[in-house]
Amino acid sequence: MRPAGETDSTDGVVPTRRLLVSGNWKMHLTHLQAITLVQGLAMHLGARDERVEVGIHPAFTSLRAVQVFLEGDDIPLVLGAQNVSSEHEGAFTGEVSTSMLAALGVRYVIVGHSERRRLFGETDEIVNEKIHAVQAAGMTPICCVGDSLEDHERGATDDVVVGQVTAALQEVAADAVAGMVIAYEPLWAIGTGHSAAPGDAEAVCATIRGAVAGLFDERVSQSLRVQYGGSVEPENAAAFFAQPDVDGALVGGASLDAARFAAIVAAGSK
Ligand code: PGA
Repeated sequence: MRPAGETDSTDGVVPTRRLLVSGNWKMHLTHLQAITLVQGLAMHLGARDERVEVGIHPAFTSLRAVQVFLEGDDIPLVLGAQNVSSEHEGAFTGEVSTSMLAALGVRYVIVGHSERRRLFGETDEIVNEKIHAVQAAGMTPICCVGDSLEDHERGATDDVVVGQVTAALQEVAADAVAGMVIAYEPLWAIGTGHSAAPGDAEAVCATIRGAVAGLFDERVSQSLRVQYGGSVEPENAAAFFAQPDVDGALVGGASLDAARFAAIVAAGSK
């Protein structure tokens, strides 16, 4: 965990960015199983460090049950969703709108996860529309970007990721960008057990922050949070959180196990 109010050589005090550890449950768990996991998390997380914000992203069908449970037992976990429609309302069978999520107390919405881009045809343009929709409803997007193995092997990671970030942030207001989250998730690291090396993740997260500084300004880029995602485990989490430009983690597999997810959160408090 970085000390508060570090200084840098150019602008004086750098804003302290609170770590955000987010559990992406993907298409797992019925609402009853989701409640069991939240109970386990409440037990394992114990007394919490204010410097680490913890979010969970259940399936749509579990959101209501989890919301009621978190509120009823005053559990300090922030509710998130995994996807949303860019449409406001209307004849869009099977879609879920931002206002439906906001009414459930959802605060973070994952947008443009690589599984949605790859398996469900989500383009940069759709990702940008969803970011606008999420922000218009008063929620915070977690915008996922990442390189494929092929991009990685031909040395195109920075170009691909900066291209995705630039497209995602089209016409987004500077203050909204300052408050949002970008998750760098190399596709080759997701669900594989082979994470990026923490130093390599840092380099890409710093590139993302640099790109945002170029598109907006230094203040916006220093306030924006950049997560790393892809095979984050209790064993490697601390090494990611020690990187100056990595402001937390988007966790898939390990977030489905209360003890393992709690151990990742604890790594952010050290
Ligand atoms: P993983 O998934 O932690 O299982 O690699 C990360 C993600 O897809 O967000």
